[in-house]
Amino acid sequence: MSNHKSLITSHSPLTVASVRPLLTTRTLGRTLHLLNETTSTNAIALALAQEGAEHGTVVTAEVQTAGRGRLGRHWHSPAGENLYCSVILRKIEIELQWRGMCWIPLVSAVAAARAVEAISGLTPALKWPNDLLLGARKLGGVLCESSGLGSKGGFDQHGFVIVGIGINVNTPRDAFPGDLRDIATSLAGETGRQFDRAALLAALLEALEHRYEALLAKQSTGVEEEYRKLCATVGRRVRIELAGGERMEGRADAILEDGSLRIVRDDAHAGVMVEIRAADVVHLR
Ligand code: BTN
Repeated sequence: MSNHKSLITSHSPLTVASVRPLLTTRTLGRTLHLLNETTSTNAIALALAQEGAEHGTVVTAEVQTAGRGRLGRHWHSPAGENLYCSVILRKIEIELQWRGMCWIPLVSAVAAARAVEAISGLTPALKWPNDLLLGARKLGGVLCESSGLGSKGGFDQHGFVIVGIGINVNTPRDAFPGDLRDIATSLAGETGRQFDRAALLAALLEALEHRYEALLAKQSTGVEEEYRKLCATVGRRVRIELAGGERMEGRADAILEDGSLRIVRDDAHAGVMVEIRAADVVHLR
């Protein structure tokens, strides 16, 4: 006999009725905007934050028509299959200065990985700075956008960060478009199973709240260590592709205290150490 629960399929849209009962958070998700179609949940969250939306406000969409990826890229966002979620983080003035700020994108990736682990048993590795990988394929990513950065690296009182997280959940592996087919994956693609996006969203908000509060409490050492443990980049040969087109190769050597990646070059500038703040990283063999 079917019960009410079995009627909620993995393709059911995210609704307040399906998400709210699963939330264990204190502040993240107190206000939920669970949209059907939008351009980009980050764009909506930015607009809401500029109008004064509270800390922890969450925006999701079933489909994004202009999903944003890092470095100006497009984020593939088909309808009804995956998680596209943006969270407004505030409370960052004074308490959360330079070091904590730098770590928000990185600990957001940790939270996403832990949420995936909680619902699927699979633990994604992280590619610096904040890609989620299963094997060599990309499962998800994080795009942080901020406003109100003060002169000392902290935030003014109206400052906020939008944490945008995309996780490929139920897209069949062969349904990715040609340019992504060999480099992207989903939980369904890896396991042959379908996953409940409401449960994933609840696990994500819980994991993110926990780690953001650690940053606010200036107890970042634990979450920094957790990031370093999940990060598959350190110790590998990598190619760094900078926004201006410059490339370099070498061995990733360390994640520094501001979250940047240090590499020791082994190309034409062998032995030179470089600290990378923002770039695309390719793991080489
Ligand atoms: C990346 O390039 O790896 C980051 C991808 C981030 C995608 C998410 S989906 C939800 C949120 N809204 C967006 O437009 N982008 C982020």
